[in-house]
Amino acid sequence: MTSITLRRPDDLHLHLRDGESMRAVLPFTAARFARAVIMPNLRPPVTTTAHALAYRQRILDALPPQPTFEPLMTLYLTDGTDAAEVDRAKASGCIVGVKLYPAGATTHSDAGVTEMARVDGVLARMEERDLVLQVHGEVTDAEVDVFDREARFIDEVLAPLAARFPRLRIVFEHITTRAAVEFVLDARPGIAATVTPQHLLMNRNALFTGGIRPHHYCLPVLKSQSDREALLRAIASGDPRFFLGTDSAPHARSAKETPCGCAGIFSAHGAIELYAEAFESAGALARLEAFASEHGADFYRLPRNSGRITLIRTPWEVPRSYPFGSEDLVPLRAGEQIGWRLAETQ
Ligand code: DOR
Ligand code: ZN
Repeated sequence: MTSITLRRPDDLHLHLRDGESMRAVLPFTAARFARAVIMPNLRPPVTTTAHALAYRQRILDALPPQPTFEPLMTLYLTDGTDAAEVDRAKASGCIVGVKLYPAGATTHSDAGVTEMARVDGVLARMEERDLVLQVHGEVTDAEVDVFDREARFIDEVLAPLAARFPRLRIVFEHITTRAAVEFVLDARPGIAATVTPQHLLMNRNALFTGGIRPHHYCLPVLKSQSDREALLRAIASGDPRFFLGTDSAPHARSAKETPCGCAGIFSAHGAIELYAEAFESAGALARLEAFASEHGADFYRLPRNSGRITLIRTPWEVPRSYPFGSEDLVPLRAGEQIGWRLAETQ
């Protein structure tokens, strides 16, 4: 197959940042995806409906006129979130979920939740109003091995939470392990997961190929080859509980190439193309469209997009860096090739 045309996809997990950084990266996503769920871990975090609507407007103001693009907003859950905020979020019509960052789990998560019991009232209201909970699924205990934090989170936090709120719809974000795949497959209805391109295309060896590779560092961290294979089997199965969320997370080069570099991999410049590679490697290119353009929309109860994109199998070389405000950023595959190219968006 040398070309594929898909219903226009959605990115159900995206970090856009704000200001000139946002303006630098937004065109990559808008050229490919019709909608994206915009993560709220700004500084300060997007904790209220008013903040989210103002942020949404800044994104809309920064968009190129074509093709169409809709930001889907989400709120950052804190110990202090008021249950009435859930009502306001739902009433806005622009907010699709609330994001749980365990405090200290990742970039800009210090305002996150310190103890689940503190947000029980908010979760109960979300269940009642049917607002989706999006979960960064890692325990934060420094004693727990970094490669075990997702599996421990399932047992200690996620499984009990799903049982306590049996109608709460939950997206287990950026899953990385076989344990996470199995949890989703065995879970009650209303539980789904996003899968990133980096966790499909790389294992943890990619952090150390020829030396330390800060641009391959993200959270949750890359896992073993057998975990990666479990993710590939999950997406290749066509199960609708797995859908596209890039977790594209731009950081300036200076924040990555430093003694204590930030977590985050930027993939928006070639996101759907990278997924095409992953699906092709799994012998499942025919399943890409449902994963990218149907499962996520259906889970969020949004209409499927009407536009189309076409990818052609023509390798292209990714630039070594892209401008990022007054700095630059290093994209995934910098200086290397991606096997598929975006040819057209309608
Ligand atoms: O690698 C990551 N980067 N993981 C996250 O959870 C946050 C993200 C970011 O915002 O940079
Ligand atoms: Zn993220």
